[in-house]
Amino acid sequence: MKLKDKVALVTGAGSGIGRAIAQLFAEEGARVIANDVREEAAKETVAAISSGGCAIQADVADSAQVRAMFAQIEREFGTLDVLVNNAGIGTAGSSGANRDRIRERSDARMAEMLSGQGIQTHWDITQEMSDEAWHRMIAVHLNGTFFCTREALKLMSRRNQGAIINMSSVAALMGLDTVPHYSAAKAGILGFTRAVAREMGSRKIRVNAICPGFIDTPMTQPISPMMRAATVARTPLGRWAEPVEVARTALFLASDDSAFFTGQWLSPNGGLFIG
Ligand SMILES: NC(=O)c1ccc[n+]([C@@H]2O[C@H](COP(=O)([O-])OP(=O)(O)OC[C@H]3O[C@@H](n4cnc5c(N)ncnc54)[C@H](O)[C@@H]3O)[C@@H](O)[C@H]2O)c1
Repeated sequence: MKLKDKVALVTGAGSGIGRAIAQLFAEEGARVIANDVREEAAKETVAAISSGGCAIQADVADSAQVRAMFAQIEREFGTLDVLVNNAGIGTAGSSGANRDRIRERSDARMAEMLSGQGIQTHWDITQEMSDEAWHRMIAVHLNGTFFCTREALKLMSRRNQGAIINMSSVAALMGLDTVPHYSAAKAGILGFTRAVAREMGSRKIRVNAICPGFIDTPMTQPISPMMRAATVARTPLGRWAEPVEVARTALFLASDDSAFFTGQWLSPNGGLFIG
């Protein structure tokens, strides 16, 4: 029971990695507050884990909704020990047409690469990206992480303790060619993690990040089989991971096992990025 009686908020807990973190934290004794922009999804997580927590619907990109969520947490729990800033969007932040275009181009590029005659199909993603797609990606990941962290610190500062875990990505470390906006947002999260870790050290509030490689979740389902095979081929351990493998990293960073870790990133990525 590494999180016995701890109060933990997991954003984006209605699916994938967030749901796996909520589940594992509950198994380790935490009261888990499952946030998601999709209310039903958050409720399903809470029903599945029975942790004495609750579900709260809120869009983390909206600071008023985030403030309301933390007001509810303060009323119902009086404190917060752990925050996992996990909510996120992939190419779902783009239109379906964009997704289809990326898929078509990725398959064409793979075929051209294998033919050995050079790549003629260009990505051209940045030059075609709309303001809206860019802003939404930054809003959910970077603004959302800031909005939730700002409110969490107010609660954690009362007792001078707490652990914050920010979900970044290998995209922050190596850049992913199909998602420049996602890579930028995730890299911004790493800079934010380092700065807030330094700022909050005197209050014994630890702030760390996780940079997962490719994980099997609804977010990565739109990736074409050919593209998936290519990412597996680039991964020394030769596979994608299950969400629980990221959840175990989050548990480490949330618990006292990582008491001397702050401002760090850990990357469960099968060797895709070795830095
Ligand atoms: N799956 C991967 O390969 C992978 C790799 C690296 C990092 N990540 C990161 O891990 C996190 C979880 O991703 P996942 O793969 O589990 O995705 P997912 O799509 O399965 O789950 C994301 C959840 O976040 C919720 N969400 C989206 N926007 C939100 C908002 N504005 N406010 C509140 N909730 C919101 C969604 O409704 C969904 O339930 C994301 O930050 C993602 O960028 C994923």
